[in-house]
Amino acid sequence: MKKAIKVAVTGAAGNIGYSMVFRIAKGDLFGADQPVELNLIDIAPAMDKLEGVKMELDDCAFPLLEKIVCTSDLAEGFKDVNWAILVGSMPRKAGMERSDLLKINGGIFTGQGKAIEQYAAKDVRIFVVGNPCNTNCWIAKQSAPSIPADRWFAMTMLDQHRATYQLANKTGVLSRDVKNVVIWGNHSSTQYPDAYNATINGKPAVEVVNDKDWLENDFIPTVQKRGAAVIAARGASSAASAANAAIDTVYALSTPTPKGEWFSVGVCSNGEYGTPKGIITSLPVRTEDGKTWHVVEGLDINEFSRAKIDATNKELLDESNSAKEILGL
Ligand code: NAI
Repeated sequence: MKKAIKVAVTGAAGNIGYSMVFRIAKGDLFGADQPVELNLIDIAPAMDKLEGVKMELDDCAFPLLEKIVCTSDLAEGFKDVNWAILVGSMPRKAGMERSDLLKINGGIFTGQGKAIEQYAAKDVRIFVVGNPCNTNCWIAKQSAPSIPADRWFAMTMLDQHRATYQLANKTGVLSRDVKNVVIWGNHSSTQYPDAYNATINGKPAVEVVNDKDWLENDFIPTVQKRGAAVIAARGASSAASAANAAIDTVYALSTPTPKGEWFSVGVCSNGEYGTPKGIITSLPVRTEDGKTWHVVEGLDINEFSRAKIDATNKELLDESNSAKEILGL
């Protein structure tokens, strides 16, 4: 048997955590021959609930699961972990000022960034799901300066999947027939789901859809507001689909990307496509070896896309500047 990969999940007693940890234990991140250890982290008042999650994990008798730690202590939780999946956070609530949100999450993500830097394995990779995920990732990264910039990720795969389904549904094909939709920028309502670089059964999606008005005025807001639509319908925010997207992102970063394809994930910008350097922004990414990754260069950016990409990145720059000011980072 290979040596286990150690995965920490924060907010593990929450809804996304509950939909995610069983799939990690089953082998959905790294394959059916790769053992895993799970470090489940939540706040102290959630420890009883977390113990219940552990009992259920035990009761699955997963062959690949070698150890479970339940803790609210960050030193114990991040000890020697190879992946830190940060789900627990304080999303914006109605009436909440942006500065209050940044203060609360600043406290959470500076603390977690420092603990990861101090205790995690040398090869640790950090993937932030908890909202606002791009800026939370940026805050944690600022707090862990010795961890290289290419190890930090924020989730936009759920938006990519939402956009893929909308294109498939519109054109009467299956989701698997739609490839290479890119989500640019922030995981927020300014995100830009770009169908101009997507294909449907190998043909340009724009030609197959053949409805520019739908693409620019219906498709984009539907994807941008899908999270709110799920809340309105379900009375709770997306959990199983978010957990699925989180699993798909770690898998995508750990497995060579199929030829001719790419996927969306928030990464630290190096100025690609005119994005401001240093922000955590969603870009089209590939990995050839499942370890290192690179931004896919040379995609076509028309005038419409340019304006949308610039707007969402401006929001990210403003968010990180506010975080800098408020948190003194
Ligand atoms: P939830 O409220 O069900 O669970 C959150 C869990 O995090 C709770 O168990 C809570 O005790 C824990 N928690 C809070 N502060 C913590 C801390 N400092 N350390 C460790 N654990 C902490 O929420 P749910 O539905 O699981 O969502 C989690 C986050 O994921 C939210 O911020 C949500 O907005 C975000 N999200 C992100 C998506 C994306 O596409 N990036 C999609 C959907 C949700």
